[in-house]
Amino acid sequence: MLVMNKLRILSAAVLAVAAASVVSSCGDKKSPGLEFARNMYDPIAYNPDQPNKNFANGQTAQLPPAGTMPVGYDPVDEYPNTNEGYEAASEHLKNPLLRNQENLAQGRILFQNMCSHCHGTEGKGDGQIIKLEKFPPPPSYSTGNSSRGGLMKDLTDGKIFHTITYGLNLMGPHRTQLNPTERWKIVMYVHELQKLQ
Ligand code: HEC
Repeated sequence: MLVMNKLRILSAAVLAVAAASVVSSCGDKKSPGLEFARNMYDPIAYNPDQPNKNFANGQTAQLPPAGTMPVGYDPVDEYPNTNEGYEAASEHLKNPLLRNQENLAQGRILFQNMCSHCHGTEGKGDGQIIKLEKFPPPPSYSTGNSSRGGLMKDLTDGKIFHTITYGLNLMGPHRTQLNPTERWKIVMYVHELQKLQ
């Protein structure tokens, strides 16, 4: 009997406290009520929009340093698929990779896999599908003329990179098949083929 009474008093007390906390938290609409984990509201780290005296301009969010490339950046994005984009790429885009045996060897393999069936293993415009006589031969890298003017052997880094990315007439775009680094390796190797006789 005594035990039952004690239990009743206890549960009445708990209910009273719970009811009081519910009622009191309704009073002030702006109050967040009982906060158990302050760190979830005020993290130790700075929020991007918070003032920050550690930086000269007093802001937390800083601009990335000049020349920073976002993940997935493709330099060709600055040069549209137009003749002007092609000429601008020719002027400003330079191969960022070091010209060494390793890059050249990888460029050669990529060229053989992705380009030689049309352009031929030596870039003379006599690939396997040309031999079937169902596809017109692309101009030779060393002796042909570009349909956009000038000699194929004078094509610059930027022009070749632009062409691989966007394609040209019958040549399809290779943007989704080859990432920028792979394209630059191929550009390096195409320069070798331009020197052949
Ligand atoms: C389906 C066949 C085909 C494939 C594959 C192909 N090309 Fe071509 N390519 C052509 C043809 C055809 C032309 C000539 C287009 C024109 O001038 O109308 C050409 C033109 C070019 C040019 C000259 C661009 C200019 O400005 O005149 C370059 C450089 C070139 N290709 C490089 C490549 C490279 C590098 C690859 C591999 C990543 C490749 N091509 C894959 C068919 C192909």
